[in-house]
Amino acid sequence: MFEKLRDRLAKARTNPSLAWALLKTRFRVGPAGGAEVADPAHRSISDDGRYTVFCDRAARSTLAFRTFRRHPDYVPILEHVTRELGQSYVDVLRRWTPHVIDRINDFKVNDLVGGPITHEYEGIGRVNPTTLRYVKVATDLETCFNWTATTAVAEVGIGYGGQLLCADRLLSYGTWTLFDLPPVLRLASRYLESHLLQGSYRLTTLNQSQPASYDIVVSNYAFSELPAAVQRAYLRKVLSRAASGYMTMNSGREGTPFGGDHLCLAEVRRQLPDCEVVEEHPCSAPGNYIVLWGHRSRPQWS
Ligand SMILES: C[S@@+](CC[C@H](N)C(=O)[O-])C[C@H]1O[C@@H](n2cnc3c(N)ncnc32)[C@H](O)[C@@H]1O
Repeated sequence: MFEKLRDRLAKARTNPSLAWALLKTRFRVGPAGGAEVADPAHRSISDDGRYTVFCDRAARSTLAFRTFRRHPDYVPILEHVTRELGQSYVDVLRRWTPHVIDRINDFKVNDLVGGPITHEYEGIGRVNPTTLRYVKVATDLETCFNWTATTAVAEVGIGYGGQLLCADRLLSYGTWTLFDLPPVLRLASRYLESHLLQGSYRLTTLNQSQPASYDIVVSNYAFSELPAAVQRAYLRKVLSRAASGYMTMNSGREGTPFGGDHLCLAEVRRQLPDCEVVEEHPCSAPGNYIVLWGHRSRPQWS
């Protein structure tokens, strides 16, 4: 817990919206609300008693939905990418995938709903920095894997569906299956139904899903934030059955932001024997890395 707070405080130094959100939530008087998962041993770092309660409210209330992406209970979990880190994503996109920079306006669709904070970037215009991260990850996915209109994708830990929306503007896929907690899925459904997708999506929790095979699994800052027991269940039902995968990890080895009850990288490697590890770039937190398997090539920047 202390490490989590330390990491967020470090990010807040260069991120006024995160600093404001932390100030408001840490010093707020009154109950935080209930965590979604009753058993603390099965609770993700993000299931902090405020975030999922707020997701539920934003999914139901038009007023809360209108600005959910700048709400203090939501910003620390999903909207804490700094303006500077956003610039690093622009630099990587400009260097390695200029075709995406040429079409950057197509991805700004991700900033139309939910009232995100945006910044001005030279030659790009106003964009939310988390949207820039989703675009950069989408270009990694484009490079690393084969995409056809029948590709079955699973994403573990989906936020509001922004990664899917940005990938949808770049990649052909069949069905994108979104795994998360029930209130988060309700919010994502409301968000995604505000847009028109090229592909299709399906929402599910881990418990609602039979073990199944996917062509590609994606999980960024999410599988790695789950407690070990839940990670093992995802490995058994989803990850180890997937032909390929891309996971940004912020736990599991020395120096990563999150210690505590998460599988170590050696254990993840045992379960995904063909995986390869590359350092995250741009690095969003010290020690972060990407686990890849079944890929045709590494990301261009690696
Ligand atoms: C830090 S957020 C990352 C979201 C998204 N991948 C992104 O890159 O913006 C962690 C995500 O994990 C989700 N999560 C928490 N518990 C989960 C569980 N048991 N199964 C799947 N996702 C979970 C949270 O709701 C949240 O969407």
